[in-house]
Amino acid sequence: MANWDYQKDINYSAIDVAKVKENRFLFHLLTIASFIEIASETYAKNLSEYYQENAEAVAWLNDRWEKEEVQHGKALKAYVAYVWPEFPWQKAYGRFLELYLPLCSVDALQPTKGLEMIARMIIETGTSTMYRAFEDYAKSLDEPVFAHLSHLIYKDEVNHYSNFNRYFNYYNQSENSGRKEILKVIVQRLKEAGTEDIETAYQSIHETKDSGRFDPASYDAFKKELNRMAKKHYPYPMAIKMIMHPLHLNKAVEATMIPVVRGAMRVLGV
Ligand SMILES: [Fe+2]
Ligand SMILES: [Fe+2]
Repeated sequence: MANWDYQKDINYSAIDVAKVKENRFLFHLLTIASFIEIASETYAKNLSEYYQENAEAVAWLNDRWEKEEVQHGKALKAYVAYVWPEFPWQKAYGRFLELYLPLCSVDALQPTKGLEMIARMIIETGTSTMYRAFEDYAKSLDEPVFAHLSHLIYKDEVNHYSNFNRYFNYYNQSENSGRKEILKVIVQRLKEAGTEDIETAYQSIHETKDSGRFDPASYDAFKKELNRMAKKHYPYPMAIKMIMHPLHLNKAVEATMIPVVRGAMRVLGV
């Protein structure tokens, strides 16, 4: 069970539709995030199968983590449906799965259970910081419903990070991965994260609506706007702290690592 219920805790009817309806950037942001979150249910099984010997982890993955990720998607979808009811969400999501699922493969898992937890922590760092940025952006738009929703999702994502961190500590007691191995996973995962999912979601939206055609130039314009939003609202210090936490570095070494992490994050376009 999640800590909140989007049908009870988000007051969609309080959204000032006239204020946000023409904001195409916001429409894309919410729709893309809803696709990526809801799609987690289609590959969450890979992860619980990988940890099948650990009943406690499997129970947490299935009962909390997966359900919360899917709820994030449903809550965002409900926002889109409230403000842009004319958008054929289901049809566009179907197209997204068609394009995106072949890109997610089981063998993308890390070689040890502990190191896979590091990879999950990087993903949750990405989502935690992204929803933190969304909350800040929502406040700049003076849109309290979006701000509240982003805040609730942000708290879940930070909690996911903490749980993956807890499992990492558990597995690493016997695996004993050193800083070098951990850092390798961190950098690899940051590079891999890329923007493939965002681009695929954007493409699916445009192939479904309007002209039914994906225009790469309009995607470039969206990416530029995303970068502008990130520059203003993305919490870099929080991201760096979360990424480097499992390395347990002292302050001096940590300072030398910041450019490495920043460099890897640039790949993400933030
Ligand atoms: Fe999520
Ligand atoms: Fe998460």
